[in-house]
Amino acid sequence: MPLKKILCIGAGYVGGPTMAVIAANCPDYDVTVVDINKARIAAWNSKSLPVYEPGLQEIVEKQRGENLHFSTDVVRGIEESDIIFVCVNTPTKTFGLGAGKAADLQYCEKTARMIKEHATKDMIVVEKSTVPVRTSKIINEILSHGDSPHKFEVISNPEFLAEGTAIKDLQNPDRILIGGRPCASGEAAVAEVSAIYESWVAKENIITTDAWSSELSKLTANAFLAQRVSSINSIAAVCESTGADVIKISEAIGADPRIGAKFLKAGPGFGGSCFKKDILNLVYLCETFGLPEVAEYWGQVIKMNDYTQNRAVSRILKSMFNTVAGKRIAVLGFAFKADTGDTRESPAIQIVESLAEERAEIVISDPQALENAQQDLKEIENVSFTDDPYEAVLGAHAIVIVTDWQEYKELDYGKIYSSMEKPAQLFDLRNILSSDELYEIGFNVHLVGKKSKVHKGS
Ligand SMILES: NC(=O)c1ccc[n+]([C@@H]2O[C@H](COP(=O)([O-])OP(=O)(O)OC[C@H]3O[C@@H](n4cnc5c(N)ncnc54)[C@H](O)[C@@H]3O)[C@@H](O)[C@H]2O)c1
Repeated sequence: MPLKKILCIGAGYVGGPTMAVIAANCPDYDVTVVDINKARIAAWNSKSLPVYEPGLQEIVEKQRGENLHFSTDVVRGIEESDIIFVCVNTPTKTFGLGAGKAADLQYCEKTARMIKEHATKDMIVVEKSTVPVRTSKIINEILSHGDSPHKFEVISNPEFLAEGTAIKDLQNPDRILIGGRPCASGEAAVAEVSAIYESWVAKENIITTDAWSSELSKLTANAFLAQRVSSINSIAAVCESTGADVIKISEAIGADPRIGAKFLKAGPGFGGSCFKKDILNLVYLCETFGLPEVAEYWGQVIKMNDYTQNRAVSRILKSMFNTVAGKRIAVLGFAFKADTGDTRESPAIQIVESLAEERAEIVISDPQALENAQQDLKEIENVSFTDDPYEAVLGAHAIVIVTDWQEYKELDYGKIYSSMEKPAQLFDLRNILSSDELYEIGFNVHLVGKKSKVHKGS
């Protein structure tokens, strides 16, 4: 029997890794990932993949050319496929009605129109992109409008992977969520999509529901996760003012199973391409549906995040005698979190921009994100880049750890201290280091949600 053909439109952080894992677990399917971005597809077909994720390279190298293919031929992909996953970007709208909040669905809509034009058979279209509730209905209307000889069933299957652990999350998902229309053809399509995942995911971990609940579950999950980050960061501010310790508080409250220990780390605020845009999307939905109180409630999560990032910069300035002009500051980490090269909405961007405005001389180091960092900061003059953290700190007045890379926990801080200007300031915005040890070495140490440890006379 010929292999069933899956097409994925969108070869980004979600499409590439997700399809690689499907290909690895489903030998009965032939998986093709297409994108209009030629450079991205060329990178997927090369040794240097466009996305860094632990474990990804190995899977892609094993499956590529077997049952996993990357191509720019979107039309051919549509013509030949049985099931299409739509993994295109859904950024925040930057123009017109809803600018700055609403999801920009132009890429989803264009994809739907292409599917309608080039489909050669009845087809299941799986919406994997994060979208506002009821988008499946719109996609369905586009696909079924007019005189197409083919029937389409639109399924919602949001992705819950976290960057940095994408392969682990895809191989062992907490749950797979699949939503469809409550009718016979909708249920059959849900079952067909479920069968793909059942190749490696236990059936009890596959939740099936209606499409709108599925769509809104994804926005809700990200809103709840971001809310936890903002909540603990708000408490960190109270700790810094009072002398309480946010790390101890996280431990104490996390022991309550109703609260749980995860996502309780104070830090520089959340980043990444999703949290902010998905909350803005939720806020816009609430406003559109006449729920201003709900919109305001979720909007506060973003306000607290902005406040957290601004507070980090104010603390740096205040601890450095209110001036950083001409001072070398080493920023360790530019990715929005460890184990990814992704810098979208990274707190490092805002922190570096603010320090540059204060005329600091900034040196940025990161093991995976320097290429993206250079792109993000191309307008800023007094910034340089190095992949060697020891070079970055040479002659620096301060170190700011923005990303929780494992290697920053293992640096020789004694050696670093002796190569820096004094007083040597260390701002650990991820609380990955021991403030006592660093203080002993000689640093003035500033952890998030903890009173600073500063040597007398500095
Ligand atoms: N990044 C994450 O961690 C994550 C996690 C879960 C869900 N999501 C959601 O998944 C979706 C994709 O996110 P991403 O991070 O992979 O985005 P991305 O920007 O990395 O990738 C999207 C890709 O889609 C391509 N594309 C857009 N329109 C196209 C078209 N008409 N034809 C072919 N290709 C097209 C773009 O060129 C781009 O390469 C978004 O809705 C996002 O919210 C992302």
